[in-house]
Amino acid sequence: STLVVAIDGPSGSGKSSVSREVARRLGLAYLDTGAMYRAATWWCLHEGVPLDDQPAVARAVRALPLDQGVDPAAPHVRVGTTDVDEAIRETAISAAVSAVATNLDVRDELRERQRAAIAAQADASSFSAGRGIVAEGRDITTVVAPDADVRILLTASEEARLARRARDVHGSDDDDAVAATRDQVLRRDADDSTVVQFHVAADGVVTVDSSDLDFEQTVQAVLAVVAR
Ligand code: CDP
Repeated sequence: STLVVAIDGPSGSGKSSVSREVARRLGLAYLDTGAMYRAATWWCLHEGVPLDDQPAVARAVRALPLDQGVDPAAPHVRVGTTDVDEAIRETAISAAVSAVATNLDVRDELRERQRAAIAAQADASSFSAGRGIVAEGRDITTVVAPDADVRILLTASEEARLARRARDVHGSDDDDAVAATRDQVLRRDADDSTVVQFHVAADGVVTVDSSDLDFEQTVQAVLAVVAR
């Protein structure tokens, strides 16, 4: 049978890197739903769609020619034939993504694509390493796949999250790097929180707090939840 693991969490909780590694070790597919919202944002900016024109943004995202790989050993994100893996991580996209992700018609469209990507693993046709998938984001445990076999909220203290993000983006977690990260991360979390709730575990969702865990310990903690 198919194993579906849903993992949600805020920025800097480590959910992307941890989810990808858990998928790799379990031989499952891996779906980064944040990358979908980022690719949608990249596409709108590329097409010159004003992000405050909600109907135009929704139309553009319905036509988004997204090609996303689900092999955790070799993830890729393409829009049409353009490789956007790096472009979607840039600051300009991080700053704009909440405007797109809070558009409810965009969420409807991407939620259906996410459900289809998860359902496709039931046949194990698109990715042959295993039967099942680890899907991560902000609303996977609650909205996209509330009936997943395993549902985890990966949390961390604000201090730990900001330090991780500062190391990712600036290569350092000294005071300046944390200060530079702080406003952006907290504002994005606040904006996202207006449409999705990802700071408190929903009923039946297991919380894993990674504040005092390193990467390997966090992977082990998630694997332990999957195993039980
Ligand atoms: O960079 P970070 O790990 O914080 O975020 P991400 O997982 O790459 O997601 C980027 C953005 O996509 C979030 O800030 C949300 O605006 C949006 N998102 C969402 O609304 N729902 C999801 N399931 C995943 C991401």
